[in-house]
Amino acid sequence: MKAAIAPSLLSGNFLNLLADIRLMEKSEAKVLHLDVMDGHFVPNLTFGPPTVRAIREVTDLTLDVHLMIANAEQTFKDYIGAGADFVSVHVEAVANLEDLLCEITNAGAKAGVALNPDTPLEAVENFLDKCHHVLLMSVNPGFGGQKFIPAMFNKTRQLQSIIRRKGQNVLIEVDGGIEKDNVRDVVKAGGDLVVSGSSIFSSPNPGREFRRLQQIALEARVDSQKIRQE
Ligand code: DX5
Ligand code: ZN
Repeated sequence: MKAAIAPSLLSGNFLNLLADIRLMEKSEAKVLHLDVMDGHFVPNLTFGPPTVRAIREVTDLTLDVHLMIANAEQTFKDYIGAGADFVSVHVEAVANLEDLLCEITNAGAKAGVALNPDTPLEAVENFLDKCHHVLLMSVNPGFGGQKFIPAMFNKTRQLQSIIRRKGQNVLIEVDGGIEKDNVRDVVKAGGDLVVSGSSIFSSPNPGREFRRLQQIALEARVDSQKIRQE
């Protein structure tokens, strides 16, 4: 997969998500990031399966569902049934990660593990063969509009080298505080799927901002591939 920006609807207009979805489609986004929060695992509360289903009914974009919830093991099937393509579960919130990743895959979605900024990579290292992607949080989960934690550049590089060393095919997703001034470095550090919410939807021209981020991400990916080939 080429480096891609996944717009997060968390910062969209909840009274008119359809307009934001259409705008992202027109701007050639491929993936929509949907932040599910339960008021337990994170202090904030957003939406659940009915909203995912409603979004599924109006778009063919890949739906990347980020479950920031305490009961993912009991409810993940509801999100897949609602149309989630990618499902990320937080390692901090799951008792048996390996089983859950297998169950998500068996239920027909691409399984991913999300890690809070303070959670070490060792938490996922032994499960990479069960993952389609690993989502590195670059802010503490719960709210859009926070500042990127710079230590996450290094964590992204480390994850990339673990994945390469093991010869695995796992996407690295980076989520939180990403905007035009750091997206290049996030991709150069190894980010394949880069989530961006407030910098797109708080901009006066979200379509243009999305395209700008996408362009920077694609160029950064081409540059880092050239460096690897040299
Ligand atoms: C935060 C969410 C993020 C959020 C990112 O808990 O997981 O996906 O939408 O928003 P920004 O880009 O504003 O940090
Ligand atoms: Zn997210």
